[in-house]
Order: sequence, then C-alpha cells, then structure tokens
Amino acid sequence: MANEIYTFKQTENLNQGKYSELRHLTECIEQLYPVRVRFINIKENRWEFVFGQDISQELIVDAKLIALEKKYGIIIYGVSKLSAEQQSYIAGLYQIVLTTNRQSLKRNIIYFLQTKAEEILFNFADTIRKFYCGDEIHLRGLIEFSNYCARDCLYCGLRKDNKAVFRYRLPSQEIIDIAKSAMVLNYKTIVLQSGEDPAYSIEQLCYIVREIKQQTDCAITLSVGERCLADYQKLRQAGAERYLLRFETSNQELFKKIKPDSDYQARIQCLKDLRKADFQIGSGCIVGLPGQTVEIIAEDLLLMLDLDLDMIGIGPFIPNPETPLQADNKGTIEMMSKVIALARILTKNTHLPATTAVGSIDPQGRQKILRCGANVLMPNLTPQEYREHYRIYPDKICIKEQPDDCHGCVGAMAISLGRTIAQGYGHSLKSRV
Ligand code: 5AD
Ligand code: FES
Repeated sequence: MANEIYTFKQTENLNQGKYSELRHLTECIEQLYPVRVRFINIKENRWEFVFGQDISQELIVDAKLIALEKKYGIIIYGVSKLSAEQQSYIAGLYQIVLTTNRQSLKRNIIYFLQTKAEEILFNFADTIRKFYCGDEIHLRGLIEFSNYCARDCLYCGLRKDNKAVFRYRLPSQEIIDIAKSAMVLNYKTIVLQSGEDPAYSIEQLCYIVREIKQQTDCAITLSVGERCLADYQKLRQAGAERYLLRFETSNQELFKKIKPDSDYQARIQCLKDLRKADFQIGSGCIVGLPGQTVEIIAEDLLLMLDLDLDMIGIGPFIPNPETPLQADNKGTIEMMSKVIALARILTKNTHLPATTAVGSIDPQGRQKILRCGANVLMPNLTPQEYREHYRIYPDKICIKEQPDDCHGCVGAMAISLGRTIAQGYGHSLKSRV
C-alpha cells in the first residue's frame, strides 16, 4: 500500500515535463532519506494534494510544510530525521525544477555552488540523465590534428607565445586515414580539433570533411575555433553536422583578462552564426579559472540555457606551467561535479561529456562525472606520437596510450557503471521544429 505513488490531479502551470521531474525528485529523496514527501498546491484556504505516497501514522505527527515557488509546497513527513541544512537543500532542488524566474534560478544555483554537496544533488542529476537520455554513453573519437594556434589565451598551453611546444600539423590524408581507422573501432562520431590554425584553408577543411563523410559512416564534429558565417556554411554543406566552441566564461571582464586577443561579443556571434548555419552546437566553460566566482559560474550555466545548446563541454581549469596562469589553483572535482549536476538538471537532454580534463584532475574523475549527469566520453584517436604535444594542460591522461587502448578503456568504464555504449550517431536530442 505504502509504495504506490498516487496522482491526484494535474494542476495548472505544471506541464508534463516538470511534473515528471518533480516526481523523480521525490522518489530520489525518499530513497535516500527516511522521509516521505507530498507535493501540494497551496490554494487560498486548502491544500490540494498533487502527488505523494501514503503516509503512516507515526510519520504524520512529524511533518513540516515548506512553501515553494508560486503556490506550490512540499510537506516532509519524518522531518526530524533531517538536519535544517538538508531541509533547505531539498527545498532548493524543488525550487530549481519549478522556477521560471531568472533571478530566483540564479539565487538557487549560487546556493548549490557554495554549499557542500549532498548526495541527493548527484542522484537527482543522474535520474534526470536517465529519464531524458537513457543509459547509453556516446563515444566521440577525438583527432587533435594541429596544435598551432594563432591566439594567446592565458590558460592554454597551445597559445602562440608558448615556444616550448613542438608544433605539428597533420596533412589531410593522414587525418582522413585516422578517421577511417576509427570506423574499425566502431566510432560513430569523429571530432576534428585543432588550435586556431589559419594554415588550414576553408577549402582544405571542407575537403577533409567531404572525404571522411564519403569514406566512413561517421558524424563529424568540428572544433576549429572562430570563423565567419560563410565558412561555417561551407563546412556544414561539406557534411559536418556539429561544432564545438566554448564561450569559456560568460563574464566579459574575466574573458578579456584570460583571452586578451579575443572579443566576447564576436565569440557569442560565432555561436549564433553556427546556429544559422544549421550546426548542432556545443559550448561551455572552464570551472576554476582564477578570478572566477560562484556568481560567474551561475551566469555560465544560465548562458548555457539561453543558448539552447545541443552539447555542453565543461572542464576544470588546470594550470599549465608554460603559461602565465602557471601559479594559479586548479579546478576541483567537487565543484566540477556540482556544475555538471546542475547543467544536467537545468538543460535536461543536452549531450554532456565527462571531459578528459576531469579525468586528469582525478583518476576516477570521468566515472564520477558520468554518475552525476554526463552521458558522453571523448576517447582520444590522435596517434600516440602527437598526443604529448597537444598539451593544452599538463598531466593529460592517455598520453602514452594508442587509440585502441582508449577504446577498450572506455568500453570497460561504461560496463563498470552499468551503462552501455551507444551504437547510433548520437545526434542532438533537442527537437527544433
Ligand atoms: N585547463 C583546462 N582546460 C583548458 N582548455 C584550454 N586550456 C585549458 C587549461 N589550462 C580548454 C578550453 C578549450 C578546450 C579545447 O580546452 O576550454 O576550449
Ligand atoms: Fe585513454 Fe582510458 S581513455 S586510456
């Protein structure tokens, strides 16, 4: 009797998506804590029961009503089993799901970013991932084809001022051959990444894309930096479907500091142009940049929402000894886990990778991130002899491995987490009609 969840009535302003999310949240809470929660609609002189379980007598006397956004609320039965912090944490999660008000959303995000994480945040993010994306992990095979870069971003080891890097550029045919070898490993997406290297003309990039599309059965993601709308359109026409361009930080002042030779507005314009060119777009930020506050990270998350991204790339800052930010602290796995969990809860069905950088700050980093919202891995396909030179940050994982080592490794990782490797292309889950 007690385990049935009763649906009383679909109340106004609660669409099916939100309703399901609230129910999932309630189930997560009841699994983790010895309490029962009823979700209610507070009318003028009565409470309308929206959903919740049957409550035993002993719990009924130990109840507390917490008012939430607008006219909703929860009654927690057995509330004395929770600390005051746990109660506000739980209320905060309901608020994040319910609220449509930007200021209130931002306040809540900041609260979670500055509070020590409770397990419930990660469990709920994992449940939302399962609900919207399923248990499949999508693999994107990464080819780092050139480490030349025309820019001087303060954080990045490939910055043009860094004379300590051995620079390499793979010729078109070699890139195409690596992509073909990825077919053998059953990859369905190839990511072509480089520094901003003008040595590759748009015609050459289009040629590479066309050849890979003709000779393999893979989707192509490009990550080659800022270009003009016409170039993006040509690349799209050549057959590339997706494009990654992180905004890095949503704070214009911080942006100017860490990317002194770039322009924030121009970068945002690139993301708009990519949308216009009909790409599936991925963007995101670095967590733990020097000078970054929780307010800034909250704005980063809100910008991800505003951009309506298909994919979100978030990684921790790792100071590179060959850059001006060498003495700064690195981003932590704790903060990363919170940001990923919030990104999942806020953006629902975006593709969210457990990035290589997260595996580089913690040996279990990618596994941890896959358990709190992520659903994508990007194993490296770059031939081993070039990998060590694509040193965006130090101590990068997989430097000594070959492509099939990484492939085997991520397969085992998926199984150990009770997940499966996706067989399809893993296109965007957003519908844009
Ligand atoms: N630490 C973490 N991430 C970095 N990136 C560049 N340098 C660093 C660093 N030191 C990230 C940027 C870029 C992506 C390819 O790598 O976000 O977009
Ligand atoms: Fe490269 Fe694990 S993914 S060794």
